[in-house]
Formats: sequence, structure tokens, C-alpha cells
Amino acid sequence: MTDHNLAVIILAAGAGTRMRSKLPKVLHELAGVPMIGHVVNTAAQLGAAQTVAVLRHEREQVGAVIRQVNSNVVVAVQDEIPGTGRAAEIGLQSLAGAYPGDVLVVSGDVPLLDANTLQEFVARHRESGAVASVLTASYDDPTGFGRIIRDGQGNLTEIVEHKDATDEQRLIGEVNSGSYLFRADALRLALTQVGRDNVQGEKYLTDVIRLIRDAGGVVVAHAVRDNWLVAGVNDRVQLSEVSRELNRRIIRGWQRAGVTVIDPDTTWIDVSATLDEDVTIFPGTQIKGTSVVHRDAVIGSDTTLLDCEVGAGARVLKTHAVSARIGAGAEVGPFSYLRPGTVLGADGKIGTFVETKNATIGAGTKVPHLSYVGDAEIGEQTNIGAGTIFANYDGVKKHRSRIGSHARTGSQNVFVSPIEIGDGAYTGAGTIVRKDVAAGALALSFAPQKNSDGWVMDNRPGTAAAEAAEAAQDKAE
Ligand code: UD1
Ligand code: MG
Repeated sequence: MTDHNLAVIILAAGAGTRMRSKLPKVLHELAGVPMIGHVVNTAAQLGAAQTVAVLRHEREQVGAVIRQVNSNVVVAVQDEIPGTGRAAEIGLQSLAGAYPGDVLVVSGDVPLLDANTLQEFVARHRESGAVASVLTASYDDPTGFGRIIRDGQGNLTEIVEHKDATDEQRLIGEVNSGSYLFRADALRLALTQVGRDNVQGEKYLTDVIRLIRDAGGVVVAHAVRDNWLVAGVNDRVQLSEVSRELNRRIIRGWQRAGVTVIDPDTTWIDVSATLDEDVTIFPGTQIKGTSVVHRDAVIGSDTTLLDCEVGAGARVLKTHAVSARIGAGAEVGPFSYLRPGTVLGADGKIGTFVETKNATIGAGTKVPHLSYVGDAEIGEQTNIGAGTIFANYDGVKKHRSRIGSHARTGSQNVFVSPIEIGDGAYTGAGTIVRKDVAAGALALSFAPQKNSDGWVMDNRPGTAAAEAAEAAQDKAE
């Protein structure tokens, strides 16, 4: 439902230099979504009438990602005047008309702040009749943050930035989280009065708190229950810490939904993945992208699935799979590499040291050992012998091969694509199949075996092999 009285401004014009990265800070990913994507998605869940993202550094790249995540977000560009106050002012100017409602201001680098917390923040802001509300956190070490200054009655009076604070103010552990709610008109007016007379020479958004209060407006500070919600990401240490916490939350959610996760510390699940009840995940597993895992499937240990679907009751062990579909009851691994376009039918098998790509492997068909299956279609209930290579590349083009159902192909075959092997056909061990094999035929391509008796004694006299052979002959006589 749209809240016509709510607009969101996302501040993301900062340079993010502490990331030391060519990738803009807010595009670094957590759980498969760029940092700014988490914030944009949360804003969307609030049902705000309008959302504006204020950008400056790398704005083309960041803007493109924001549009991908949600095309309704308006991108505004901050000018050369620095500071969060200026950013908020630019954001306000981009809101349609003389927007009169509430404005939620959040940062693009605070990815865990969720819609529930913000909805409650909005409700309390409105109940209290506040003109401005600030979400606060308390830290043992509040270095760097703006301090929350309260009067004798405990009422918020102003926010003082760390760099501008007195020694006494720096002892305060309660800090500004960087999320606020304002009445739009009061914010607009207050920002016209904010200067840049501070240590950093920036137009501080935090200065409006004092101005609104001095003008007689009610300003209120709300403490968050959980500091993680407002954790900002400024460098890669914080990125990994916040990622881990997000992952912990995602895993807890799946555990409560009926998924067994043996080791949450080494299991990573993207926000976009989905898992059914009674799935089991062993340690060292990543389930990424739009992967879907159905009931009773067992994934891992040491498995990565990206954009894969795993059928009910399937077992995937020590496998790397990308854009693959694994049928119900199928078995994959250990040590399998499923590349895009792999489709394994129900109860099929892709076994140890097998690589597949653009390959449909029918129900009940097995490729158990040491093989490469690329650009192929294999029917149902067929067995592909150990060490088989589908030679799909002629050096210029890729070709497809088809193997029928109920076929039995020998070990160490090469299928020189494009070839077809019919239903129920057999091939001998070591066969190089260059011509089609009809249904029910046996294909053999070996040269007859020739044994030359005594060759080793004649040609390698005095070697250990020759001596062993002679001893064997003596024994036999
Ligand atoms: C800000 C707050 C501080 C608070 C802290 C919480 C001010 C003056 N201070 O400090 O009280 O404790 O956040 O993390 O607001 N940004 C712009 N344009 C700018 C500058 C920043 O859009 O010109 C954006 C950044 O991209 C970021 C957010 O605003 O998303 C906060 O900026 P940051 O530089 O991290 O603010 P702090 O100095 O940490
Ligand atoms: Mg910051």
C-alpha cells in the first residue's frame, strides 16, 4: 500500500574512499545484492510515495544499478557544496511539487536497516507529533559519530559531530545513526539556515535538529533495539562484518522455516535464494542468486550453487554448479562441475570429476566418472562409461551430439560431435565414435591387439622388468 504522506531520501553522494576500490562503495555486494539495492528494496517495502537517491561520485554507474533494482527511484545529483545537509536539500528539491508530508532520510551505506524498524520509526514519529525524529544507537566507543545531546529532562536538543564536540560531549555514548524523519516543510526551511561554519566546512544535516527545536518544533530521539540495524559500511572490514551478520539473519530465517543448516558460520545464502522445508545444508556451502532448492534435498558439504534449481530429495556433494537444473532424486558429486545449461533428469547421476555444459541428461541416466559432457542430449536410463569425452569443438565451431535411451557406452570413449547413438546401442571400451551408431548396434573402433612374446627380454635385457619376466617364466616351467 502506498503511504502518500511518506517520501524517502537516500543519501549516497559520498566518495567512499575508505573502501579503496574502483567499484563505488554502495555497489559492493552483500548476500548477492549491491549495498544500495538493500536500501532501495527496504524503501520500496515502506510503500513511500516517492523515493529519491542523491548521488555524486560515480553517479552513472550507481544510478544504472539503482534503476535496475527499482525503476521508480528518482536519481538526484548533488553539486559541489559538500555535506549531508546539502545532499538532503538536493533530495528535497527532487520531490514532486511542494511535497508536504514526512521525509525519511537514510544512508545508502546502511544495508541492514529493515522495513519493520522503519515502519515503527514512522509510527512513533507521527504519534509523538514530532517535526524531526532521529534514530540513535549507543556504543562503548562512539568515536567518529555525531553525539546525541539531551537536556536535563532527557529531551533531544542537538547533534554535535565528533570533530566539533567538546571533550565532555565526546564522553556521550549515544550517537546519531544517520536515519531521520522530518516534516518536509520544516526541513526545507531549516536547511536554508544551515551554514558551513564547522571543522569540516560542510553543510551538516544534523544542524537542522537544533534549528527546528529553536523554532519551537518537537524533536525526538528513538534508540534502536539492535545496533546491527544501523551499522554503516565504510571499509572492507565493516563490509565483511555486516555481510556476516546479514548472512546470520538470512540463515536464521531459513532455519525457522524448516531448513537444517549444520554450520551457519560456513554457509552463505543470498537473499534471492529459496529453500523448501526439510532441506539439509552441510558446511562450506554457498547458495547464490536465484537458486531454488526443493524439499528433502541435501546440499554440501563444500558446494556452490549459482542460479540453480535442485529437485526434491536430490543430493549434491562437493559440487560447483552454475545455471543448472538438477532433477528430483538425482545425485551429483563429489567433485562435479555443472556449467550453464546442464539439465539432469530425475534420479540421474553426474559423478566424480565430471564436467557438463549445455547438456540434457535424461531421467535415470548416469555419467558416473571422469567425463566431459558438453553440448549433448542423452536419453533416459543410459549409462555413459568412465572417462568419456564429448569432443564438441572442432577448433572453430561447437557441435551437438545425441545419445538415445537405455544405451550402454564403454569406458574411455570419445564422441566426436556431431554424432548420434541410437536407443539401446552399445559401444566398446576405448571407442572413438565418429559415425552415427544405429539403435541396438555395437560400435567398436579399436585396432586388434597384437602381443609380441619375449619382446622385453630381447629389447630391454638386464632391466628389472626383463628379470621379473624371466623369473615368472622359470616359475611357470
Ligand atoms: C554522519 C552524521 C553523523 C552520524 C553518522 C552516522 C552528519 C553531518 N553527520 O556522519 O552525525 O553519526 O553519519 O554514520 O550528517 N553523503 C552525501 N553527500 C555528502 C556527504 C555524505 O550524500 O556530501 C552521504 C554519504 O554517501 C553517506 C551519508 O551521507 O551515505 C553519511 O555520510 P558520511 O560521510 O558517512 O557521514 P559521517 O561523517 O559519517
Ligand atoms: Mg558513513
